[in-house]
Amino acid sequence: MAVKTLKDLLDEGVDGRHVIVRSDFNVPLNDDREITDKGRIIASLPTLKALSEGGAKVIVMAHLGRPKGEVNEKYSLAPVAEALSDELGQYVALAADVVGEDAHERANGLTEGDILLLENVRFDPRETSKDEAERTAFAQELAALAADNGAFVSDGFGVVHRAQTSVYDIAKLLPHYAGGLVETEISVLEKIAESPEAPYVVVLGGSKVSDKIGVIEALAAKADKIIVGGGMCYTFLAAQGHNVQQSLLQEEMKETCTDLLARFGDKIVLPVDLVAASEFNKDAEKQIVDLDSIPEGWMSLDIGPESVKNFGEVLSTAKTIFWNGPMGVFEFAAFSEGTRGIAQAIIDATAGNGAFSVVGGGDSAASVRVLGLNEDGFSHISTGGGASLEYLEGKELPGVAILAQ
Ligand code: 3PG
Repeated sequence: MAVKTLKDLLDEGVDGRHVIVRSDFNVPLNDDREITDKGRIIASLPTLKALSEGGAKVIVMAHLGRPKGEVNEKYSLAPVAEALSDELGQYVALAADVVGEDAHERANGLTEGDILLLENVRFDPRETSKDEAERTAFAQELAALAADNGAFVSDGFGVVHRAQTSVYDIAKLLPHYAGGLVETEISVLEKIAESPEAPYVVVLGGSKVSDKIGVIEALAAKADKIIVGGGMCYTFLAAQGHNVQQSLLQEEMKETCTDLLARFGDKIVLPVDLVAASEFNKDAEKQIVDLDSIPEGWMSLDIGPESVKNFGEVLSTAKTIFWNGPMGVFEFAAFSEGTRGIAQAIIDATAGNGAFSVVGGGDSAASVRVLGLNEDGFSHISTGGGASLEYLEGKELPGVAILAQ
């Protein structure tokens, strides 16, 4: 990357300087607001530690969920501040606001090596505003938290596909650097995007259906096979004429799926059986069914064992694998076998066939850890879902592009 990096900043020296860091702490929480997967927090530690050890006064910006520009306790970064303190072995204070009085007081009071976390940047509507003037005004207020000689480090890889204030606009106001996480993620994805060794198998799942259907178009030219499972497969199955009953379906994307199947049918691999559930509930009644046998009013929440076997066979020959999105509702133990089976098949292909395997994404990365699979079995686990997909699609990532300016 033709951008300055964390190493350049450390070489310049950070002792006593305010360094504003954008991290991605958008972690999954359960109903008790406990973090169920700390992957993104753990991934942020090296950059934060390096800055703190260099004597910087570190101010961290992050978002959690989509609070739509309003202060909402449900989306407070309080659980993150606590987890971050535990993981760093150093107290991380949480400002009560984003750029208000408390944030200013705390930023001014920082001493060398301290780390301060600002409240959820998306509590301020200007963070995600489409109006550049609004975002610029917010960026100025954020940059003002740093005294003269401040710097900005972009380390929230999971959010670099968003042209939002704390990711994009602030870089125009302060000397800016790519954090260690952003640097590592980009170099791994570059390898897959530019010279994937064949056979290249892409596995797509998850529920953000419309986001991912477009990816198929872009990846079809490069990948040898595209395995489709999870929430997005039901629109494909419906397009083939199967009755998916109450399964997740994007009616308006059916035609697109028909078209994709007509053009790339030889590459797209779909499930052949499913795990049907009587309702969306962890204790729902379940049945393994073929594609046309989901009981009336039921829904599929996972791919079936025959599908796991078929997908596993395709994966066993792969030399490059990119996986984004779980195969089912893995958070419910009864519907986690599809995701577990595919993850294991990728681990086996990595060890047995020397495949270079990358797990892209919040949910799929979380599923690996939540299901207790061996993280080291993959070549790389990315912290970015949408960001890694957009990179592989060949789209420009605004939060990375701005660092080159
Ligand atoms: C993610 O979880 O993919 C990132 O944190 C970005 O979140 P967003 O999709 O709400 O912008």
